[in-house]
Parts: sequence; structure tokens; C-alpha cells
Amino acid sequence: MADNLKEENRKLEFHLSEDGEIYSIRMYGDPVLHQQALPIEEITEKDHQVARRMLATMYSNPIGIGLAATQVGILRRLVVIDIDRDDPDNAPIILINPEILEQEGESVIEEGCLSIPELKAEIKRPEKIIVSARTLDGEEIIIEDESLLARVLQHEIDHLNGILFIDHLSRKKQKRLKSKLRQIRQEYAEIPA
Ligand code: NI
Repeated sequence: MADNLKEENRKLEFHLSEDGEIYSIRMYGDPVLHQQALPIEEITEKDHQVARRMLATMYSNPIGIGLAATQVGILRRLVVIDIDRDDPDNAPIILINPEILEQEGESVIEEGCLSIPELKAEIKRPEKIIVSARTLDGEEIIIEDESLLARVLQHEIDHLNGILFIDHLSRKKQKRLKSKLRQIRQEYAEIPA
């Protein structure tokens, strides 16, 4: 565990931007989380910097395995993912304009979100997906997956479309979470940063 922590810190340090800063994560109740992010037409140095800082932001949270630009208040279609963050040899995935081309099957997995702390819920989504995207270098790639990565990809692409994982719950289940969500909103969003 101590070793893992050391390696995580290494990843965090590696991805820290030159000024060593990380973003503050927008929390549930912040209207930006419901906005649609815009496609990136041209990948600039600024996008590289944003991606680097997003990775550092993700690694600075001990349970972060994915982060969408929307969650740091940037409405551009950019996500970062590292489902094996404890593995120092595993490189994170940075995707520009990710788009689901095909989906298949169904699975129920418990999800959480850095923007909705202390809340988890079982969410039903397609099990297998095919995603097209660009890398930071502009290379077009296709990802086909039916593991945890498929799940995280769907969660992060949702963020780019202004959708939160709790939006997938039935009305009844949302109702049950209402007081908890109100509590989160009061605790995190209404306090000026
Ligand atoms: Ni999330």
C-alpha cells in the first residue's frame, strides 16, 4: 500500500503542470455540470496543458480514475482516464472528442463521481462499447471494450453531454437520494471557493 501511494504520487508529480497547480473540481449543484461541451476542432498547446492539469487533478484525489473537462469548468470535449492508477507502468488515456459508435449488452455496476462525493449507486448501462476519439497528437483511434474501461468511458462521455450518473436512476431511486443530494449541494456548491 505504501508503495502504491508512492507510485501514485509519482504519477501526480509527473502530470503536474509547470506551475504545479491543479483544478478545483466542480461539485454537484454547479450548473456547469449540466452543460454540453463543444467539440475540439484544433488541438492546441492549451489542450495539452489542460490535459496535464486534469490528470494531476484526478491523481490528487485518491479514488479518481476518470475526469471530464466539464468537471473542471472547461466546456471542451476532453477526458482523462486511468483505471489502473495504482500501476506505475500503466499510462493514462487522454481522449479528444470521444464518441460512442456502437453499444451492446447490459451490465449493472456501482458508480461514483468526483463531483458527487460520498454517493454511490448501481447504474445499468450497455456492457460493450466501441468508441472513436483522437489522441492529444491528433491521431484517430478506436477503442473497443467491455470491462471497467467501457464503464468509465460512458460515465465521462456523459459528463461532456451534461449528464450525471444519477440521471440514469429511476425517479423513485432519485427521490430516495434527494436529501443526501441536497446535503452534498449545500456542503460543496454553496460555499464560495
Ligand atoms: Ni463523474
